[in-house]
Parts: sequence; structure tokens; C-alpha cells
Amino acid sequence: MAELAEVMATEPSYGPEVLDVPAPPHVPRNLIRDIRNFQGQVPQTGAEPYAHTQQLLEPDAPPVMWSPFPQTWITSGMWVLTRYKDCAKLLQDSETYGSNGQADFQRLIGETFKCIPLSFNGAQHSAYRRFLNPWFTAKAVAQMDKDIRDLCDSMIDEFLAKGGGDFAYDFARIFPVKVFFNLMGFPHAVLEQFLEWEYEILHSRDFQRMGAAVRSVLAWLRAFIAEKEQNPDDTLTSKIVNGIVDGKPMTADEKIGTMFFLWLGGLDTVASTLGQMFRRLAMDHGLQQRLRDNPSIIPSAIEEFLRTQPLVNNMRQLMKDQTLHGVEMKAGDWVMGLATVANFDPEAFPNPREFDPERKANRHFTLASGAHLCLGAHLARQEMKIALEHWLRRVPMFSLVGAEDLVVSPSLLSVSNMRLTW
Ligand code: HEM
Repeated sequence: MAELAEVMATEPSYGPEVLDVPAPPHVPRNLIRDIRNFQGQVPQTGAEPYAHTQQLLEPDAPPVMWSPFPQTWITSGMWVLTRYKDCAKLLQDSETYGSNGQADFQRLIGETFKCIPLSFNGAQHSAYRRFLNPWFTAKAVAQMDKDIRDLCDSMIDEFLAKGGGDFAYDFARIFPVKVFFNLMGFPHAVLEQFLEWEYEILHSRDFQRMGAAVRSVLAWLRAFIAEKEQNPDDTLTSKIVNGIVDGKPMTADEKIGTMFFLWLGGLDTVASTLGQMFRRLAMDHGLQQRLRDNPSIIPSAIEEFLRTQPLVNNMRQLMKDQTLHGVEMKAGDWVMGLATVANFDPEAFPNPREFDPERKANRHFTLASGAHLCLGAHLARQEMKIALEHWLRRVPMFSLVGAEDLVVSPSLLSVSNMRLTW
């Protein structure tokens, strides 16, 4: 039997190869698989960065597997689900599957507070959602609409003046982050520093570098919280740090837990989505023209972009023993739903590998599902809609400058650089 560390140091295999490594006794040995290639840990350079996930939907691929690799502070392996209906249950049945701190990166450095609202379940989770929700409703986002459009236009002006540029680095990376900064009241001077820390945490895949960046972020956020406690204003940060949840003032742990998780959710996600969206449009002029001719299909096209380019795979912890597809799982086991596979399950999506901008009933997992459905979903969708509308209206048919830029980076799949010309 191989040591896990040895296998981790190797390149992931292309297929879900059986691994001979240690695993808990209840895990059938033939289900221990190398699925790193399907988790976004390998750069994908093709026109369809998710095409390889089809392997896990073939009849000979087990619907339940065991990935032996640790993930952030979760040092055990985990079950991996690939079918749509199993992933739906994972997200929707919170009595079986608990949301128990899977994104608590702070545990890497021994911090014990929990991310809010993601690390809570049931009534406690609902109380935090009720508290934060007013800032993220469709109505609240509509009030930000003009500012977001003005920002988008001013950034496009710069591209038009230059006649082209790096869309991923100079637009996608910055545009949603500036919107988020305005919402939270963060000073724009720290934007580049925040993005550097974010990159270390979400993309470096090195636990030491991740831990160092988490330490820096938390120190910065705690100082900012202290300042807003003294000098409240009308930003979301101020509302949180002076917040009352269920009749009680937020504790120091609740304040940092909420601020840190919003920080994690608000910086990188829309940027990564926009990069992949415009990559597809730049490579597919037929699709670009179709959206230029029919702007009314932009909302359904956005759902299709989201479905075909999921960024994260959701994790939960089993609250009780269960048997799935004949496999016995134990309470306490971690389980990951591969949105990178389930979003292409033909049982849920006819012709799943076809990009259909007018697809109906497009219930993908990119923004999750169930109680933890992304809190920023309205904001994210509106930012994508505005970016698409304004670029297509103001910029002529655009193309990629060079294929060398087309690496979709691993883990929170994103395109780092993408030069466009027209
Ligand atoms: C396209 C962009 C985005 C994607 C793909 C995305 C994806 C997700 C996913 C998959 C979850 C669920 C995680 C889980 O259940 O384990 C989630 C939750 C969450 N997201 Fe987003 N997100 C995006 C944008 C945003 C933005 C812009 C914000 C905030 C400004 C945000 C804040 C949150 C919060 C607070 C939660 C936790 C919800 C809860 O636990 O009830 N997200 N997001």
C-alpha cells in the first residue's frame, strides 16, 4: 500500500484510477479513486474545460467514490457523489448532510470561530440569513444598479481607448470586487492586497501559504471591525459589527465569522465566472452574435454559463449513517458533490454538453441549492448581466489574441489572463 503523501506528490491521473492507499475500514477498496482531475486541481486548456468530466457519467463509473486526499483543515478523505439527484439531496437534505465548517480556512491556523452563515444549520443558520438578507435581495441589488452600470462603462471606456486589453486581469478581476468594496465600505487602496491574499487562500493549494494569508486577512478585518464599532456608517460592515441577531448583539466571533466569509465569497467568484464566460464568447462568434441580436436571452444565457462552468464542489458532513447505491457511509464522514460532473448529468439536462443559451428549467448547482443557496446570487447574476449587456452593446465582435493565455486555473476554476482584440 502506498503512503498518501507519496500519491499526493504525483500528477493526478486522467481517469478516476483506483488508488492503493489507507482509508477507513468501511470504505470498499475499489471505490478509492484519484478524482483530483475532476475537482479543478489540474489546469484545463481546452475550449471545453469540463469535457473530461464526462468520464464520471459513463455507465462503468461508480456513482459514489472515495477520495483519500485531505482538503484544507479536513484531514480525512471524503465520499464523492457525481449524479444530479444525489448532489441535490446533499444540498437539500440538511438533516442527513450538515454544513459543518467545510470552508473554515481559519482552522488551518487554529482559529475556532465559524464562518457565518455557511457553517451553521437549521434555526441558527436561518437567523443569520434573515439578518444578512436585506442587503442581498433583488430589490437591494436593483438600488445598486446605476452605480454598477456606471462602473462597468468607465472600465469599458479604458478598453475602447486602448483598442483591446486583458479582460481577465483588468476587467473581470476588478469589476465585481469594486462593487463588493462599495457594499462593504472597504477602502479601494487595499484592493490589490486583498486579491493577493485571496489568490493565496483559494488558488495556491499550499496549506502554509494559505494559513499565512488567512492570518493577514483576519488581522486586517479585525482592525477594520474595531474602527467601524467606533465610527459607524451606512455600509454593510457597519451593520454587521453593530448587529443584533435574534435579539442579541453579535459577539466578536460572530462578527469576524461573518466578515471573513463574505470576504471569501465576494472577491473571486464573479471574477472567475466572468473570465470563463467571455472566454467562451471570444471563441464562439456565433454565440456572441446571437446574444448581440437577442439581448432578451441574456438572463437564460447567464444560467447556461453558470451551469457549464461551476466553480466549486460543495461539501457536507453526514449527520447519520446511510447507505447510498449499496455503499455504507458513517455519521461523521465528509461527502463532496461534484457540480463539475452533476451539472452535466443527462438525467437532469437534455443534451448536457450542448451550450444552449435558451435552456429551460436550468436548475444547476453552481450557486448551490437548498438552505445555503448562494446569498450573493442576485448580486452575482446582475453583475454578469450588466457586464454582458454593456460589453456587447459597446464593444465590436471580440476575439482572443493568443491561445497561450487560455489556461483555466485549478481550484475555483478561473482564467488568469485573457487578451481580447476587436
Ligand atoms: C458567480 C458567483 C458566485 C458563485 C459561483 C457562488 C457560489 C456559491 C456556492 C456554491 C455557495 C454554497 C456553498 C455551500 O453550500 O457549501 C455559496 C454560498 C454563499 N455565497 Fe456565493 N457565489 C457567488 C457569488 C457570491 C457573492 C458575490 C457573494 C457576496 C457578496 C456571495 C456570498 C455567499 C454567501 C454569504 C454564501 C453562504 C450562504 C449560506 O450559507 O446560507 N457569493 N456561493
